[in-house]
Amino acid sequence: MSERESQHGHWSSRTMFILAATGSAVGLGNIWKFPYMAGEFGGGVFVLFYIFCVAIIGIPIMMAEIMLGRKGRHSPINTMRLVAEDEGQSKWWQALGWMGVVAGFLILSFYSVIAGWTLAYVFRVASGLFEGQTAAGVGSIFSEFVSDPERLLFWHTAFMVLTVYVVGGGVRHGLERAVKYLMPALLIILLLMVGYAMNTGYFAQGVKFMFYPNFEALKAEGAIKDAILGGMGQAFFSLSLGMGAIMAYGAYLPPKTSIASAAISIALMDTLVALLAGLAIFPIIFANGLEPASGPGLIFKVLPIAFGQMPGGSIFGTLFFVLLVFAAWTSSISLVEPAVAYLVEKRGMSRRKAAGVCGVVAWLLGIFTVFSFNIWSDVHPLGMFAVFKDKTFFDLIDFLTSNVLLPLGGVLVAVFVAWLMKRETSCNELNITGATCGYPLWRLLTRYVSPVLVLIIFIVGLLRL
Ligand code: TRP
Repeated sequence: MSERESQHGHWSSRTMFILAATGSAVGLGNIWKFPYMAGEFGGGVFVLFYIFCVAIIGIPIMMAEIMLGRKGRHSPINTMRLVAEDEGQSKWWQALGWMGVVAGFLILSFYSVIAGWTLAYVFRVASGLFEGQTAAGVGSIFSEFVSDPERLLFWHTAFMVLTVYVVGGGVRHGLERAVKYLMPALLIILLLMVGYAMNTGYFAQGVKFMFYPNFEALKAEGAIKDAILGGMGQAFFSLSLGMGAIMAYGAYLPPKTSIASAAISIALMDTLVALLAGLAIFPIIFANGLEPASGPGLIFKVLPIAFGQMPGGSIFGTLFFVLLVFAAWTSSISLVEPAVAYLVEKRGMSRRKAAGVCGVVAWLLGIFTVFSFNIWSDVHPLGMFAVFKDKTFFDLIDFLTSNVLLPLGGVLVAVFVAWLMKRETSCNELNITGATCGYPLWRLLTRYVSPVLVLIIFIVGLLRL
């Protein structure tokens, strides 16, 4: 069968695809979410399980998503329909694309709120607000900030406008350059912060917390199950898997590029950034006698302490938050790309209009998250279920997407490519050269290992059996 063409344009090169996909993967998930989840789940057990999931489930599913995207060359919804047709499968597979679009809106809704905090912190750090502050002072500045819904709405709106602006302009403009220069800059600044953390005298304790599986910390009822489910969810979230973002980007991938090596380098980079963020943050936490389990505010309560103490910290800290905003920006774009591409294909909308419509929907949903940190912080909509007892709207949206929708989407992708697609098709598309065992290994992992593992984790973690 002849190659399909994408109506949305192509990446200029394979490197560009890797950069864009890395831009999607590296974001708040690595620097904001990973540390606070690791802190909440007692460190080592969660971190090691997360790394295990990235390697065993994440990389093979990422390859599958890229492959599907490149074969279908459309938005995930139409890609799934077309590829299912090619392979003689039901057109209902497009529902997978729809599920991804829903997950994308839900994630973007809170992602934009948190990215808004980051944006606000650019100005707060720049103003010298944290200079000479104590840890307690930094903590109360944060609490006061999130208690003001209007302020959060303002920054949420600002970030959403940024996202819509880039998505409306098409995938290549801006994004290419942003990722090419700013991602390495973020890496360098993280390395410098790890250097700072090494001098706190608590580095060894931070390393131990992150990598030593301390089951003592998970003694509470169900805590290990939560850590396992959370670790898997974090692997999907951090790699941008399970909702079609990578599939949408794969649709613009030039033919004949190696999918395996692209997926591996994206995953390595993503994991590296998360681990560096952890290594920078935990020593500072211990050096200041703070609690690792401080929830979503963790980095905002911890990093400014360091910026307030180190010489030139306000400049350095401003740069850090600027780069974090860019990292969040290149991620949020990929959250709406599937929906925008679909509207352009199906309704013939302009990209600008499609991006605007999607932005408004995600913005409205984001209000639930904004209020979760202040006027609705005591509202627990599913409080009647023990597992969701203390969960706010934000907690629930986060839980539903990371721990349910993304792994489910990922497994369906795995089942489709490894059980329903002809072996010949996937073998040709992946065309794994070099190691001859590459293809059988990929097939083994997608066919048996990831569906079974995710199923077990669902049974244990969700159903609490
Ligand atoms: N991976 C991004 C991060 O870590 C977030 C993200 C972007 C994402 N696109 C996604 C998560 C698609 C899940 C699915 O910040």
